Amino acid sequence: MIDGKTRLCGLIGRPVEHTLSPAIHNTLAADLGQNLVYVPMLVGSDIGSAVNGAYALNVLGLNVTVPYKNDVIPFLKDIDSLAAKIGAVNTLVRIDGGYKGYNTDILGLKRALDCENIALTGKTIVIIGAGGAARAVSYLCASEGASRIYILNRTSDKALELKKDVCAAFPDIHVTAGALSTAGEIPEDDIIALQCTSVGLFPHVNESPVSGSIFFRKICFAFDLIYRPDETMFLGEVRRAGGRTSNGLKMLLYQGIASYELWNDVSVDEAEASKIYTILRELVRGQ
Ligand code: ATR
Repeated sequence: MIDGKTRLCGLIGRPVEHTLSPAIHNTLAADLGQNLVYVPMLVGSDIGSAVNGAYALNVLGLNVTVPYKNDVIPFLKDIDSLAAKIGAVNTLVRIDGGYKGYNTDILGLKRALDCENIALTGKTIVIIGAGGAARAVSYLCASEGASRIYILNRTSDKALELKKDVCAAFPDIHVTAGALSTAGEIPEDDIIALQCTSVGLFPHVNESPVSGSIFFRKICFAFDLIYRPDETMFLGEVRRAGGRTSNGLKMLLYQGIASYELWNDVSVDEAEASKIYTILRELVRGQ
C-alpha cells in the first residue's frame, strides 16, 4: 500500500508508454517487501529540470531512456567509469547532492551472457551495428578483453568512428571496422555475434542485417538485442546453421534488476529473476 514512507523510482524519456520496466520494479518491490513504486514519467524536452526536480522531490532512482541517455550526463553529480567511457547512462542512483549515473544495459547484457555460459574474454566478437546500442556493447567487449572485435555497420564510416573511440579507451584491444557486406570475409571461426541494430524488429520480421551462409556457419553463439519477435530472422539463420542463440529479453530483465539492486542495495536471486522473466515473456507476447 502507498503510504507516507513510500519511495518513488521511475523512468524518464520520450516516449515512455510502451515500457516494460514498471512490471520489473513493482514486482520486485512487492516480492522483496519494499515500500517503493516505479512509474513512467514523460519528459518533453528539459532533461536538466527533470533530473534536478526529481532530486528535489526525493526520488530514489531513475531509469533513463531515449533520447536522453547522453544528454542527461551534464546534470549528474557523479558517473560510473564504464558509463563515462561509453558516454551513455540509463540509471541514476540518488547520492548526496544529486545522482550518480550508471549503464546497467551493459551490466544486463553481461549477466544475460553469463546465464548462457558465454564469456567474452579471449573471443572473436562481431558487433553488428554502430549506433548507441552497439557503442555500449563494444565497450563491454573491450572491457572484458575480447581477442578481436569486428564492428560491422551499413554505414562503414560510423563503424570506423566507433572503432576509433573504442581503441582510444582500450588501446590494447584489436578492433576492425567495416561494412556489413564484409561479414563473410572474417577469417576466424567460433565467432560470438552481437546484433545491435533495429533490423528485424517487429513488424519487420522478415529483415536481417546480414546475409550469407559462410558467416552464419562460423557463429557459435549469437545474441540479438531485439526481443520482439522471440526469434529474429538473424537468430533463425544462426540457429539453422548450427549456432546457439539468445534474444534480448534477458538483457532487459537484468538491466532492470541491476538498477533495482543499485537503488536498494539488495541482491536479487535467480529464482526471483526467473519469475520476472516469465512475466516479461507474457507481456511481450501480449503486446
Ligand atoms: P540504437 O541506439 O538503438 O543503437 P541508433 O543509434 O539509431 O539506435 O543506431 C541504429 C543502428 O541500426 C545503426 O547501426 C544503423 O545503421 P546506420 O549507421 O547505417 O544507420 C542500423 N540500422 C538501422 N536500420 C538499418 C537497416 N535497414 N539496415 C542495416 N542497418 C540498419
